[in-house]
Amino acid sequence: MSVTKKEYKRITVKTLVDMKANGEKISMLTAYDYTMAKIVDGADIDVILVGDSASNVMSGHETTLPITLDEMIYHASSVIRAVNRALVVVDLPFGSYQSDPKKALRSAIRIMKESGGHAVKLEGGKEVKDSIKRILNAGIPVMGHLGLTPQSIYKFGTYTVRAKEEQEAHQLLADVKMLERVGCFGIVLEKIPAELAEEAAESVSIPIIGIGAGNGVDGQVLVLHDMIGMTHEFNPRFLRRYMNLYQDMTIAISQYASDVKSGEFPSDSEQY
Ligand code: KIV
Repeated sequence: MSVTKKEYKRITVKTLVDMKANGEKISMLTAYDYTMAKIVDGADIDVILVGDSASNVMSGHETTLPITLDEMIYHASSVIRAVNRALVVVDLPFGSYQSDPKKALRSAIRIMKESGGHAVKLEGGKEVKDSIKRILNAGIPVMGHLGLTPQSIYKFGTYTVRAKEEQEAHQLLADVKMLERVGCFGIVLEKIPAELAEEAAESVSIPIIGIGAGNGVDGQVLVLHDMIGMTHEFNPRFLRRYMNLYQDMTIAISQYASDVKSGEFPSDSEQY
């Protein structure tokens, strides 16, 4: 299908559903701070995810589990101050929604009130259905996240592709339909077979955003620092690096260090 890209003044959850209906793909990237979010928003990315991957990328933790609700609110507030166009979705961190729907609602309200985020995302299917309904009933848009759900890494044991077996694939499709039925505006599908992701996208009218889920879905998301090559140790097959900032920054910073040591910086024109 040939699709004309429309100019949207401000992306809302409704815009995303309309984009899917029109066959227009949705671009999504993470951001965790003001400066990066300004660049991402200025480059016309449709959705900025303040992901709990901040736990890895910004804080250096091995998993996403340690990041707190307060830390997510701090990152989301910084992003919100930079953004004029994109929809800003904020991850509910591990422990802030799984145990009890009332707690889930309190956490989501804190994110919306204290950061100004536009929607929340949380991981899981039927096991978190009541939490999702509670949040939605308060008028807060919710995005689901299925497939590889990094907050459950200790249950899975590895970061390998999910839902390759029939039973898990079947459950994933059931969860996708359930998330649409209860009122989620979109779903992230992470690291599952492309054919299954395409089937999921065809089975619902809300957008399915993939990461390592092939090209038959309604949009793509990547972690910004991976996509611009600021990180260099994480190399999954699904990751396309558009730059090698790790290398470029190392060269620039080494040059600065050497210029300071040699007295070459600052020059006459760089002083008062
Ligand atoms: O936290 C995150 O960055 C995410 C993406 C990988 C989808 O959830």
